Amino acid sequence: MIFNQWYIILESKELKKNKPLKVKRFNETLALWRDEEGRACCIDDRCCHRGVSLSGGRVCSGKLECPFHGFIFDTRGKVNVIPANGKNRPVPSAMKVKSYKTYEAFGFIWLWYGDDDKTTAEPFFFKELSEYSYSGFKDTWNVHYSRAIENQLDVVHLPFVHRTTIGRGDKTLVNGPVVEMENDMLAFYVNNVKDDGNTVPLKPDEISDYRKLFHLQFHYPNVWQNFISDKIRTLAAFVPVDDENCIVYVRYYQKMVKIPLLRELFNYTGKVMSIVILRQDKRVVETQIPKKSVLKMDELLIMGDRPIIEYRKHREHLKNLN
Ligand code: FES
Ligand SMILES: [Fe+2]
Repeated sequence: MIFNQWYIILESKELKKNKPLKVKRFNETLALWRDEEGRACCIDDRCCHRGVSLSGGRVCSGKLECPFHGFIFDTRGKVNVIPANGKNRPVPSAMKVKSYKTYEAFGFIWLWYGDDDKTTAEPFFFKELSEYSYSGFKDTWNVHYSRAIENQLDVVHLPFVHRTTIGRGDKTLVNGPVVEMENDMLAFYVNNVKDDGNTVPLKPDEISDYRKLFHLQFHYPNVWQNFISDKIRTLAAFVPVDDENCIVYVRYYQKMVKIPLLRELFNYTGKVMSIVILRQDKRVVETQIPKKSVLKMDELLIMGDRPIIEYRKHREHLKNLN
Protein backbone atom coordinates (compact mmCIF):
# COMPACT_ATOMS: atom_id res chain seq x y z
CA MET A 1 0.00 0.00 0.00
CA ILE A 2 1.24 3.48 -0.77
CA PHE A 3 1.26 5.54 2.40
CA ASN A 4 0.12 9.18 2.65
CA GLN A 5 -2.55 9.05 -0.01
CA TRP A 6 -6.29 9.60 -0.31
CA TYR A 7 -8.00 6.36 -1.33
CA ILE A 8 -11.57 5.99 -2.52
CA ILE A 9 -13.01 3.46 -0.04
CA LEU A 10 -16.78 3.55 -0.47
CA GLU A 11 -19.69 4.92 -2.45
CA SER A 12 -21.47 7.70 -0.55
CA LYS A 13 -24.79 5.90 -0.74
CA GLU A 14 -23.40 2.92 1.16
CA LEU A 15 -23.03 4.99 4.33
CA LYS A 16 -26.51 5.76 5.66
CA LYS A 17 -27.45 8.25 8.34
CA ASN A 18 -27.86 6.73 11.82
CA LYS A 19 -26.52 3.37 10.71
CA PRO A 20 -22.86 2.63 11.49
CA LEU A 21 -21.06 0.59 8.87
CA LYS A 22 -18.31 -1.98 9.31
CA VAL A 23 -15.82 -2.33 6.46
CA LYS A 24 -12.43 -3.91 5.96
CA ARG A 25 -9.92 -1.67 4.19
CA PHE A 26 -6.11 -1.65 4.22
CA ASN A 27 -6.18 -4.83 6.29
CA GLU A 28 -7.95 -2.91 9.09
CA THR A 29 -11.50 -3.24 10.31
CA LEU A 30 -13.09 0.20 10.35
CA ALA A 31 -16.30 1.67 11.77
CA LEU A 32 -17.91 4.47 9.77
CA TRP A 33 -20.92 6.63 10.53
CA ARG A 34 -22.33 10.06 9.72
CA ASP A 35 -22.25 12.89 12.26
CA GLU A 36 -25.08 15.40 12.74
CA GLU A 37 -23.98 17.39 9.68
CA GLY A 38 -23.91 14.20 7.60
CA ARG A 39 -20.10 14.11 7.42
CA ALA A 40 -18.51 10.68 7.11
CA CYS A 41 -16.56 9.70 10.26
CA CYS A 42 -14.20 6.76 10.54
CA ILE A 43 -12.45 5.09 13.48
CA ASP A 44 -10.97 1.68 14.23
CA ASP A 45 -13.74 -0.83 14.80
CA ARG A 46 -12.44 -2.15 18.11
CA CYS A 47 -13.48 -0.63 21.41
CA CYS A 48 -10.49 0.30 23.58
CA HIS A 49 -12.43 -0.84 26.66
CA ARG A 50 -13.02 -4.54 25.99
CA GLY A 51 -12.60 -5.13 22.30
CA VAL A 52 -16.14 -5.04 21.00
CA SER A 53 -16.97 -4.05 17.43
CA LEU A 54 -18.03 -0.40 17.62
CA SER A 55 -19.94 -0.51 14.34
CA GLY A 56 -22.53 -2.65 16.16
CA GLY A 57 -23.37 0.39 18.29
CA ARG A 58 -25.69 3.41 17.88
CA VAL A 59 -25.15 6.91 16.61
CA CYS A 60 -26.02 9.34 19.41
CA SER A 61 -25.93 13.08 18.68
CA GLY A 62 -23.40 12.50 15.90
CA LYS A 63 -21.11 10.32 18.07
CA LEU A 64 -20.75 6.55 18.23
CA GLU A 65 -21.88 4.62 21.30
CA CYS A 66 -20.26 1.26 22.00
CA PRO A 67 -22.92 -1.48 22.17
CA PHE A 68 -21.30 -3.19 25.19
CA HIS A 69 -20.96 -0.62 28.01
CA GLY A 70 -22.06 2.56 26.29
CA PHE A 71 -18.77 4.46 26.03
CA ILE A 72 -19.26 7.40 23.66
CA PHE A 73 -16.65 7.95 20.93
CA ASP A 74 -16.33 11.27 19.15
CA THR A 75 -15.28 11.75 15.54
CA ARG A 76 -11.59 11.88 16.56
CA GLY A 77 -11.88 8.47 18.23
CA LYS A 78 -11.73 9.89 21.78
CA VAL A 79 -13.99 8.55 24.49
CA ASN A 80 -16.09 11.47 25.74
CA VAL A 81 -18.25 9.60 28.25
CA ILE A 82 -17.84 6.46 30.38
CA PRO A 83 -21.37 5.97 31.68
CA ALA A 84 -20.34 3.65 34.52
CA ASN A 85 -18.05 6.38 35.92
CA GLY A 86 -20.72 9.09 35.72
CA LYS A 87 -21.74 10.99 32.63
CA ASN A 88 -20.08 14.23 33.75
CA ARG A 89 -16.87 12.68 35.07
CA PRO A 90 -13.59 13.32 33.22
CA VAL A 91 -12.29 10.61 30.86
CA PRO A 92 -8.57 9.66 30.81
CA SER A 93 -6.91 10.91 27.62
CA ALA A 94 -5.62 7.41 26.83
CA MET A 95 -9.21 6.28 26.26
CA LYS A 96 -9.24 6.51 22.50
CA VAL A 97 -8.97 4.60 19.24
CA LYS A 98 -7.38 5.57 15.95
CA SER A 99 -9.40 7.90 13.76
CA TYR A 100 -9.11 8.57 10.03
CA LYS A 101 -9.75 11.67 7.96
CA THR A 102 -12.36 11.40 5.24
CA TYR A 103 -13.40 13.40 2.21
CA GLU A 104 -16.62 13.09 0.26
CA ALA A 105 -17.49 14.26 -3.24
CA PHE A 106 -18.72 12.94 -6.60
CA GLY A 107 -20.64 10.18 -4.80
CA PHE A 108 -17.48 8.67 -3.28
CA ILE A 109 -15.92 8.64 0.19
CA TRP A 110 -12.13 8.87 0.40
CA LEU A 111 -9.99 7.99 3.40
CA TRP A 112 -6.57 9.46 4.19
CA TYR A 113 -4.24 6.53 4.68
CA GLY A 114 -1.16 8.07 6.24
CA ASP A 115 0.11 10.60 8.75
CA ASP A 116 -2.45 13.20 9.83
CA ASP A 117 0.01 16.07 9.51
CA LYS A 118 0.69 15.18 5.88
CA THR A 119 -2.95 15.29 4.76
CA THR A 120 -3.51 17.16 1.52
CA ALA A 121 -6.57 19.37 1.12
CA GLU A 122 -8.47 17.19 -1.31
CA PRO A 123 -8.01 14.01 -3.31
CA PHE A 124 -7.64 13.87 -7.06
CA PHE A 125 -10.68 13.11 -9.17
CA PHE A 126 -11.54 13.36 -12.86
CA LYS A 127 -13.64 16.46 -12.23
CA GLU A 128 -14.87 16.74 -15.80
CA LEU A 129 -17.07 13.72 -15.08
CA SER A 130 -19.44 15.88 -13.02
CA GLU A 131 -20.97 16.92 -16.38
CA TYR A 132 -21.89 13.29 -17.10
CA SER A 133 -24.58 11.03 -15.64
CA TYR A 134 -23.67 7.53 -14.54
CA SER A 135 -24.73 4.13 -13.35
CA GLY A 136 -22.38 1.99 -11.30
CA PHE A 137 -21.79 -1.27 -9.49
CA LYS A 138 -19.20 -2.89 -7.27
CA ASP A 139 -17.58 -6.29 -7.28
CA THR A 140 -15.23 -8.04 -4.83
CA TRP A 141 -12.16 -9.64 -6.37
CA ASN A 142 -9.98 -12.23 -4.71
CA VAL A 143 -6.69 -10.46 -5.55
CA HIS A 144 -4.69 -7.60 -4.09
CA TYR A 145 -5.80 -4.26 -5.58
CA SER A 146 -2.50 -3.98 -7.50
CA ARG A 147 -3.52 -6.95 -9.70
CA ALA A 148 -6.93 -5.42 -10.44
CA ILE A 149 -5.27 -2.12 -11.42
CA GLU A 150 -2.73 -3.84 -13.65
CA ASN A 151 -5.52 -5.65 -15.43
CA GLN A 152 -6.96 -2.29 -16.48
CA LEU A 153 -3.53 -1.25 -17.77
CA ASP A 154 -3.11 -4.45 -19.76
CA VAL A 155 -3.59 -4.00 -23.52
CA VAL A 156 -2.20 -7.41 -24.44
CA HIS A 157 -5.14 -9.32 -22.96
CA LEU A 158 -7.93 -7.73 -25.00
CA PRO A 159 -8.24 -10.20 -27.95
CA PHE A 160 -8.06 -13.17 -25.59
CA VAL A 161 -10.00 -12.31 -22.44
CA HIS A 162 -12.52 -10.15 -24.33
CA ARG A 163 -12.72 -12.16 -27.55
CA THR A 164 -16.53 -11.87 -27.56
CA THR A 165 -16.82 -8.22 -26.47
CA ILE A 166 -14.36 -5.30 -26.62
CA GLY A 167 -11.54 -7.52 -27.92
CA ARG A 168 -13.30 -8.67 -31.11
CA GLY A 169 -11.33 -8.54 -34.37
CA ASP A 170 -8.30 -10.62 -33.45
CA LYS A 171 -6.03 -7.57 -33.04
CA THR A 172 -3.25 -9.40 -31.30
CA LEU A 173 -0.30 -7.25 -32.37
CA VAL A 174 0.45 -4.44 -29.90
CA ASN A 175 2.10 -1.24 -31.13
CA GLY A 176 3.83 0.63 -28.30
CA PRO A 177 2.03 1.40 -26.06
CA VAL A 178 3.20 4.94 -25.38
CA VAL A 179 3.15 5.69 -21.65
CA GLU A 180 3.24 9.15 -20.07
CA MET A 181 3.58 9.88 -16.38
CA GLU A 182 2.84 13.30 -14.94
CA ASN A 183 1.86 14.33 -11.41
CA ASP A 184 0.96 10.79 -10.36
CA MET A 185 -1.14 10.33 -13.49
CA LEU A 186 -0.25 7.50 -15.81
CA ALA A 187 -1.67 7.84 -19.32
CA PHE A 188 -1.16 5.40 -22.13
CA TYR A 189 -1.95 5.35 -25.81
CA VAL A 190 -2.56 2.10 -27.60
CA ASN A 191 -3.07 0.77 -31.11
CA ASN A 192 -3.63 -2.97 -31.42
CA VAL A 193 -3.74 -4.36 -34.98
CA LYS A 194 -4.21 -7.69 -36.74
CA ASP A 195 -1.07 -9.71 -37.26
CA ASP A 196 -0.38 -10.38 -40.95
CA GLY A 197 2.64 -12.48 -40.07
CA ASN A 198 5.17 -9.92 -41.37
CA THR A 199 4.54 -6.76 -39.41
CA VAL A 200 6.83 -5.99 -36.50
CA PRO A 201 5.06 -3.97 -33.80
CA LEU A 202 6.15 -0.36 -33.50
CA LYS A 203 8.25 0.61 -30.52
CA PRO A 204 6.80 3.45 -28.42
CA ASP A 205 9.23 6.04 -29.87
CA GLU A 206 8.29 5.02 -33.43
CA ILE A 207 4.67 6.15 -32.99
CA SER A 208 4.63 9.84 -33.87
CA ASP A 209 0.99 10.91 -33.62
CA TYR A 210 0.18 8.74 -30.62
CA ARG A 211 -2.06 11.32 -28.99
CA LYS A 212 -4.73 10.53 -31.56
CA LEU A 213 -4.87 6.93 -30.39
CA PHE A 214 -7.21 5.29 -27.93
CA HIS A 215 -6.07 6.11 -24.42
CA LEU A 216 -6.65 5.53 -20.75
CA GLN A 217 -5.65 7.32 -17.56
CA PHE A 218 -4.82 6.01 -14.14
CA HIS A 219 -4.24 8.28 -11.16
CA TYR A 220 -2.44 6.94 -8.10
CA PRO A 221 -3.32 5.40 -5.83
CA ASN A 222 -6.57 3.87 -7.13
CA VAL A 223 -8.69 5.59 -9.77
CA TRP A 224 -8.84 4.92 -13.52
CA GLN A 225 -10.65 6.37 -16.50
CA ASN A 226 -11.25 4.90 -19.93
CA PHE A 227 -11.94 7.35 -22.78
CA ILE A 228 -14.47 5.38 -24.80
CA SER A 229 -15.41 8.62 -26.56
CA ASP A 230 -15.70 12.29 -25.74
CA LYS A 231 -19.19 11.60 -24.39
CA ILE A 232 -18.72 8.14 -22.87
CA ARG A 233 -16.27 7.15 -20.15
CA THR A 234 -15.80 4.29 -17.78
CA LEU A 235 -14.41 4.94 -14.34
CA ALA A 236 -13.02 2.38 -11.94
CA ALA A 237 -11.82 2.69 -8.36
CA PHE A 238 -9.75 -0.18 -6.95
CA VAL A 239 -10.29 -0.34 -3.22
CA PRO A 240 -7.78 -2.25 -1.07
CA VAL A 241 -9.38 -4.66 1.39
CA ASP A 242 -6.40 -6.81 2.39
CA ASP A 243 -3.42 -8.58 0.81
CA GLU A 244 -5.65 -10.92 -1.17
CA ASN A 245 -8.87 -9.00 -1.78
CA CYS A 246 -10.10 -5.76 -3.22
CA ILE A 247 -13.36 -4.16 -4.30
CA VAL A 248 -13.69 -2.74 -7.79
CA TYR A 249 -16.20 0.10 -8.15
CA VAL A 250 -17.12 0.70 -11.77
CA ARG A 251 -19.20 3.53 -13.19
CA TYR A 252 -20.43 3.97 -16.73
CA TYR A 253 -20.56 7.73 -17.46
CA GLN A 254 -22.19 9.39 -20.47
CA LYS A 255 -23.42 12.79 -21.59
CA MET A 256 -25.09 11.79 -24.85
CA VAL A 257 -28.58 11.06 -23.59
CA LYS A 258 -30.07 13.62 -21.23
CA ILE A 259 -33.85 12.95 -21.28
CA PRO A 260 -34.53 11.44 -17.82
CA LEU A 261 -36.06 7.99 -18.44
CA LEU A 262 -34.08 7.36 -21.59
CA ARG A 263 -30.92 8.43 -19.78
CA GLU A 264 -31.50 5.87 -17.01
CA LEU A 265 -32.11 3.14 -19.58
CA PHE A 266 -28.98 4.07 -21.51
CA ASN A 267 -26.87 4.18 -18.35
CA TYR A 268 -28.28 0.86 -17.21
CA THR A 269 -27.37 -0.76 -20.53
CA GLY A 270 -23.85 0.66 -20.26
CA LYS A 271 -23.55 -0.70 -16.75
CA VAL A 272 -24.64 -4.19 -17.80
CA MET A 273 -22.05 -4.16 -20.61
CA SER A 274 -19.39 -3.11 -18.11
CA ILE A 275 -20.40 -5.94 -15.77
CA VAL A 276 -20.04 -8.49 -18.58
CA ILE A 277 -16.57 -7.15 -19.52
CA LEU A 278 -15.37 -6.99 -15.94
CA ARG A 279 -16.50 -10.54 -15.24
CA GLN A 280 -14.39 -11.69 -18.20
CA ASP A 281 -11.39 -10.01 -16.55
CA LYS A 282 -12.16 -11.30 -13.07
CA ARG A 283 -12.32 -14.94 -14.16
CA VAL A 284 -8.70 -14.79 -15.34
CA VAL A 285 -7.15 -12.26 -12.94
CA GLU A 286 -8.28 -14.15 -9.84
CA THR A 287 -6.07 -17.05 -10.96
CA GLN A 288 -2.87 -14.93 -10.96
CA ILE A 289 -0.17 -16.04 -8.56
CA PRO A 290 0.96 -14.30 -6.43
CA LYS A 291 -2.16 -12.30 -5.66
CA LYS A 292 -0.13 -9.12 -5.23
CA SER A 293 2.34 -7.53 -7.64
CA VAL A 294 5.63 -5.86 -6.72
CA LEU A 295 8.33 -4.22 -8.83
CA LYS A 296 10.82 -7.04 -8.57
CA MET A 297 9.15 -10.37 -9.13
CA ASP A 298 9.67 -13.43 -11.30
CA GLU A 299 7.38 -12.43 -14.16
CA LEU A 300 8.86 -12.13 -17.65
CA LEU A 301 7.25 -9.07 -19.17
CA ILE A 302 7.12 -7.98 -22.84
CA MET A 303 7.01 -4.64 -24.69
CA GLY A 304 3.21 -4.50 -24.63
CA ASP A 305 3.34 -4.66 -20.82
CA ARG A 306 4.93 -1.25 -20.65
CA PRO A 307 1.98 0.42 -18.81
CA ILE A 308 2.22 -2.29 -16.15
CA ILE A 309 5.98 -1.84 -15.81
CA GLU A 310 5.58 1.94 -15.44
CA TYR A 311 2.77 1.44 -12.95
CA ARG A 312 4.98 -0.78 -10.80
CA LYS A 313 7.94 1.59 -11.01
CA HIS A 314 6.04 4.69 -9.99
CA ARG A 315 4.18 2.80 -7.29
CA GLU A 316 7.52 1.74 -5.84
CA HIS A 317 8.75 5.32 -6.07
CA LEU A 318 5.70 6.61 -4.16
CA LYS A 319 6.06 3.88 -1.55
CA ASN A 320 9.69 4.82 -0.99
CA LEU A 321 8.82 8.48 -0.38
CA ASN A 322 7.40 7.51 3.01
S1 FES B 1 -16.36 -2.85 25.24
FE1 FES B 1 -16.92 -0.92 24.50
S2 FES B 1 -17.69 0.10 26.21
FE2 FES B 1 -17.01 -1.78 26.98
FE1 LIG C 1 -10.03 -6.48 -19.51
